[in-house]
Amino acid sequence: MAQEDVFKKIVAHCKEYGFVFPSSDIYDGLAAVYDYGQNGVELKNNIKQYWWQSMVLLHDNIVGIDSAIFMHPTIWKASGHVDAFNDPLIDNRDSKKRYRADVLIEDEIAKYDDKIAKEVAKAAKRFKENFDEAKYRATSPRVLELQEKRDALHARYSAAMNAMDLNELRQIILDEEIVCPISGTRNWTEVRQFNLMFSTEMGSTADGAMKVYLRPETAQGIFVNYLNVQKTGRMKVPFGIAQIGKAFRNEIVARQFIFRMREFEQMEMQFFVRPGTEMEWFSKWKETRMKWHQALGFGADHYRFHDHEKLAHYANAATDVEFLMPFGFKEVEGIHSRTNFDLSQHEKFSGKSIKYFDPETNESYTPYVIETSIGVDRMFLSVMSAAYTEEQLENGETRVVLKLPAGLAPVKLAVLPLVKKDGLPEKAREIVNDLKFHFNTIYDEKDSIGKRYRRQDAVGTPYCVTVDHDTLNDNCVTLRNRDTMEQERVAISDLNAIIADRVSITSLLKKLQ
Ligand code: GAP
Repeated sequence: MAQEDVFKKIVAHCKEYGFVFPSSDIYDGLAAVYDYGQNGVELKNNIKQYWWQSMVLLHDNIVGIDSAIFMHPTIWKASGHVDAFNDPLIDNRDSKKRYRADVLIEDEIAKYDDKIAKEVAKAAKRFKENFDEAKYRATSPRVLELQEKRDALHARYSAAMNAMDLNELRQIILDEEIVCPISGTRNWTEVRQFNLMFSTEMGSTADGAMKVYLRPETAQGIFVNYLNVQKTGRMKVPFGIAQIGKAFRNEIVARQFIFRMREFEQMEMQFFVRPGTEMEWFSKWKETRMKWHQALGFGADHYRFHDHEKLAHYANAATDVEFLMPFGFKEVEGIHSRTNFDLSQHEKFSGKSIKYFDPETNESYTPYVIETSIGVDRMFLSVMSAAYTEEQLENGETRVVLKLPAGLAPVKLAVLPLVKKDGLPEKAREIVNDLKFHFNTIYDEKDSIGKRYRRQDAVGTPYCVTVDHDTLNDNCVTLRNRDTMEQERVAISDLNAIIADRVSITSLLKKLQ
């Protein structure tokens, strides 16, 4: 199946099974804003818990905070967001549609990549097992011509972006004859900078309302609380502050479902270190974060680092953790060495000293920071993408199963009476009432047992138990494993011991030690 089709299926599955709904659905939605449904919120909460516990429980030098979304507007001046948190945008005069100039050009580069991939695939089909891809790429005149054009475009684009040369970006769009996908014309406006922060007003106009921003990242809430936490928690450098919360960006191009949203959630941790030790900590955090991702068991081939060549002016190292989504490797998390830029800026703009006195070296300094920043929604999408599986069964049927890591699954156990009579529902409810204190357990009696299994497979429930007539005599049930579909007879009294450990977040956390 084409990856595009897989992605469409995942989006449809998310809606059909109560994971993600378009926001304001009955009003035809609101672009790039989504709501999480009954299963989605459980999965999302489990992802957040896995992250939070891996930071705050497993590290005795990391603590958490929860700062407000509204912050003093000068914070965004100090952080650079008011002046520089921009995307270059361009309008098509005929369709009146607005685009990101950089995205239009990146899409054009991707078209060259697609054409090259198609040439290679055609040749592979023609030459079968004798095909030598590297040799073909190095010698095929058509591939070489496409590659040369692609590389030249990429080089010109990178130079324009590095210099933020808006005229040159427009010229590239004109020279490449890029047309508006809606009107099909090349009637483009100039390229302008567009600030991504949402703003609103605080206080009544009579009092003199103040322009405030919806935070575009949670990190600044950590920086401005750095001193509060360091003093009240008696924290010693190196130490970290973790936070999970909403962030808002007025993205011009919002697409790919929950990959790029206007309201999303971040899990960020700022780790404060002694200047000069930041590269060592940067490497450590790269390793720690990759381990966290890979502990989910989707396979190491689903992840890669993408080290940044072009660094923000305040950073001295940066990398992305990329995940293999149905639309290619995409950034899920950023790990950045941000020097002492943010704390120094807040010192300067607030006029308050944020220096740390290091009792080990007897010196005062502004700590350097390693940041790990991951989007909850992107993480959610990566988990859904990797878990979504269509399996051909021996009887010719297809089953859709979400192979979610058990620790993240919304529901851990479904208890199913074989029939809705003869005391089986009562027995099943007894089991639910006992186990629901330990993990998310649900009761389901509607439809045939086969249909009920399929329903649980589709939401990723790792275990189902069936209560049958024998249960009333032997106090045993049939325990079905979602992935293997194997069934075993087990005593009701053993259920908690068998299941609890396997479905807990702790089982994931233990892999990180
Ligand atoms: N404090 C650093 C920071 O915010 P970022 O690379 O802009 O860095 C970090 O964002 C992470 O937040 C990204 O790796 C991504 O997972 C998530 N993210 C950023 N913009 C997003 C958006 N519009 N929709 C969903 N997630 C987003």
